[in-house]
Amino acid sequence: MRSISNLDEFRKRTERSRQIYNEAKEYIPYGVNSNYRYIDPYPVYFKSGKGSKLYDVDGNEYIDFNMAFGALTIGHSHPKLINGIKERIESGTIIGFEYEGSLELAKLITKIYNLDMVRFSSTGGEATQAAVRIARSYTSKKKILKFEGCYHGSHDSLLVSVKPPAGKGGYSKYPLPVLSGPGVVQSAADDIIVAPFNDIEAVSKIVEKNYNDIAAIILEPVAMNMGLVIPKEGFLETLRKLSDEYNIVLIFDEIKTGSKHYGGASSYFNVKPDLMTLGKAIAGGFPLSVVGGKKEIMSVLGPGKTPHAGTFNSNPLSIDASLITLKDIFLERDIRKAEEISKEIAKGYKDIIEDYKIPMNVNQWSLSGSLYFGIDSVENWRDFLKTNVSLWYEYLYGMMNKGIIPAAPGPDEQWTVSIVHTLEEANKNMEAFKEISESLKNVKSEEAIVESI
Ligand SMILES: Cc1ncc(COP(=O)(O)O)c(C=O)c1O
Repeated sequence: MRSISNLDEFRKRTERSRQIYNEAKEYIPYGVNSNYRYIDPYPVYFKSGKGSKLYDVDGNEYIDFNMAFGALTIGHSHPKLINGIKERIESGTIIGFEYEGSLELAKLITKIYNLDMVRFSSTGGEATQAAVRIARSYTSKKKILKFEGCYHGSHDSLLVSVKPPAGKGGYSKYPLPVLSGPGVVQSAADDIIVAPFNDIEAVSKIVEKNYNDIAAIILEPVAMNMGLVIPKEGFLETLRKLSDEYNIVLIFDEIKTGSKHYGGASSYFNVKPDLMTLGKAIAGGFPLSVVGGKKEIMSVLGPGKTPHAGTFNSNPLSIDASLITLKDIFLERDIRKAEEISKEIAKGYKDIIEDYKIPMNVNQWSLSGSLYFGIDSVENWRDFLKTNVSLWYEYLYGMMNKGIIPAAPGPDEQWTVSIVHTLEEANKNMEAFKEISESLKNVKSEEAIVESI
């Protein structure tokens, strides 16, 4: 059990959550339905969300900067979305044949994200699974190059070197593939080549040595599962060049980044992948994911060809939710406004960290930002492993006690500013941080605990 000063108050405020957890863990492992939702000593259970606010089972109100791990860039229960969807529910939620709205959405998404063709499914994991299958089919090669610390969904083919514990990944320049936990098939590691994020020299050497086997390079163009790591200048361009040279499919997993900047990170950095995956906020909080890209590559899909299927793929609820979100709510000018608020938060945090001499740092890109606990800067997973997890917990409890959910749970996560957040709410976030800063100064360092996912 952690001995952390803000924990006592956290317990007092969340007594009902503790009771639910004690019962839920008898029926649901760890009382949660996604490992990422568990926090020590127990998860907080929520009742509802509206706009930028969340309400827990003890009646506490929070300003929410988690926004469902980035899936709610339009805020909770946006009235335009709710009204539009009500109509759809009355006309049928699932049809079992192709829904006419999928054509309109395909046209819109290919335009915004500069893609030729798309296929829809429900979760991000389904989209990345399809993307690597398409790449293998297109190139007739087998291996996938992924980066240490990048996460692409909870399926065996990419559950390798997601959060490898210290000492397990071998030499940092040529990391060993490490399975994410027991039960993931060993062959997953055999089919993955791992490279260090942001290391142009190392990844070039790895590709030059293995290109005959590499079907795809997959990455989060801004790595958002080790905090928030911005690609170094030339990194994405190098991957583009290597992929062109060696007949490798370059996949940008934009499941997080795609809704953080209009057109996604590929538009921001002006590097075009061969395939892209989108998900999370693309349908305003409804389950919809996208795999899309060049016509020549996407055309491997089809009956009797490369498999891709799903009962809930392109269901009318998610399609209409996405159309309403992209056409009427998540507009470029609103994204820019939210981005300004995100910048303000980063600046405010930086000033406080400096004034109070707290061993932390801040990284921000678009609607998101991440705090690094006990470390100065992070370029890749090995840097991230030096995180002081006790400091993160002290921060999390302290902020929640002040009515702020500062980011998604986990020191490897980040904040999301939605288009309904206000500058006043951002200021409350910074005020809360200032108030708890004393409690953060003397937290004993603890090695990053990397829980399997
Ligand atoms: C970059 C990235 N790819 C894929 C996924 C998987 O998406 P989902 O949880 O919808 O399966 C996630 C989820 O956090 C993610 O961050």
